[in-house]
Amino acid sequence: MLYQEKHRPQLHFTPKENWINDPNGLVYYEGEYHLFYQRNPHANDHADMHWGHATSTDLYHWEEHGIALAPDELGAIFSGSAVVDKNNTSGLFENGSGGLVAIFTHDGKSQQQSIAYSEDKGRTWTKYEGNPVIPNTKIKDFRDPKVSWHEESKQWVMVLACGDHIQFYGSPNLIDWTYLSSFGKEYPSHIGVWECPDLLYLPVENSSKKEWVLIVSINDDGPNGGSAVYYFTGSFDGKEFHPNEQPEDALKWADTGKDFYAAVSWDNTEDTYWIGWMNNWQYAGAVPVSPWRSAMSLARKMTLYEKDGNLFLKQEPIIDDNNKEAVTYRNIGIQTETAESYEISDTGQVDLQISEASDSTKWGVNFVTDQDEVFCLEVDKEDTYTFYRTEGFIDFSEDFPKEIKGSLHGLGIQELKVIIDRSSVEIFINNGLSTSTNLIYPKGTVRRLEIFTVNKALQIDNITWTNLNSIWK
Ligand code: FRU
Repeated sequence: MLYQEKHRPQLHFTPKENWINDPNGLVYYEGEYHLFYQRNPHANDHADMHWGHATSTDLYHWEEHGIALAPDELGAIFSGSAVVDKNNTSGLFENGSGGLVAIFTHDGKSQQQSIAYSEDKGRTWTKYEGNPVIPNTKIKDFRDPKVSWHEESKQWVMVLACGDHIQFYGSPNLIDWTYLSSFGKEYPSHIGVWECPDLLYLPVENSSKKEWVLIVSINDDGPNGGSAVYYFTGSFDGKEFHPNEQPEDALKWADTGKDFYAAVSWDNTEDTYWIGWMNNWQYAGAVPVSPWRSAMSLARKMTLYEKDGNLFLKQEPIIDDNNKEAVTYRNIGIQTETAESYEISDTGQVDLQISEASDSTKWGVNFVTDQDEVFCLEVDKEDTYTFYRTEGFIDFSEDFPKEIKGSLHGLGIQELKVIIDRSSVEIFINNGLSTSTNLIYPKGTVRRLEIFTVNKALQIDNITWTNLNSIWK
């Protein structure tokens, strides 16, 4: 049966076979969320990049389609975005009611930006005959255009990754682009290359405010090594981005796990949702799975949260609300010598509400397999948590086994949600104020949840285990 191999995710999108990386062309159009992605249709490694395609009506169940964009004389098809050209600003649509336009990087002798359009809901695409629309400017890394409509300045705005900085471009029609400004050279974290940017306008919780957020993926300087995503908050005036954070401030990571990369948002939605590639360039080509390689994260709803004048990203995973079985245990007291144990499966969600009456400052949860492998999440209430990915299949890369640290942003911990799938653990703390996404490759099958305290009594208000439905309808 399809999608039943060991380690095959049941709650996360994977292609039936062969390689994928970054999500591309995320756009909502006529009832469908489109997920295009970097794709090698012929083999299980990163080569010969195309755009693959899947669609969903709920951001959880996915259906895979055929190839959307294939390489041509200008090169391979690298990452990019898609928009709905409702008013036919491009003039590319003969039907008068517009359609989808994809904006992507051609990776050939150099990197250049090109476009293509679709009149049949993204199933087939025609490349614009005047490509590239932004020829290369001698910058080696010049890629991953993310485009959206900026209402105040009444233009399409593109954010583009240029090695160690971001460039902004504006256009009335998606074809003629004007350089607007650059951002970021003076900011730290330039050991790796900047990739896959995004520009978002997000609501701040418990207020009527909205703020701009500039997303940057960086390959090879992440908080736990390798690829990771960080962000700046600030303002955007249609020409320049003005950050709140100064170059000497600590970087704000969108997810401190090892496996959340190249994340970008859906265009043309009311609320903002994004999805990341659940892998890390340190070992992406070596993860021990086949005939497919790589999964997407869960889609997540994004908002901002303000604390002492500082803005943080908040992410809530999108799961299937129908037809799920949940079991709740209430008022549980755990002592140092008595861990509590619960039967679970390897495809579901654990929710814990921690009581304010808890004395424990160090406690944790273990996910235990039927072969007694343990994947432990330990929380130090003072300010950190650590996910131990040191068991299971780990030998394929020395960068894989790791104690993966995250921060609680000085907020303690009131709430913990963990979504476990056959080869991943996604951690959401305090309703998604801190997240950590990590692959795991157990030899056995996760069957048990243990909750323990290292010091003093831990009081839990309730624990809920929810078996989640497979995303494959
Ligand atoms: C990020 C990335 C992009 C590029 C694509 C190539 O993971 O390196 O910058 O467009 O992957 O597949």
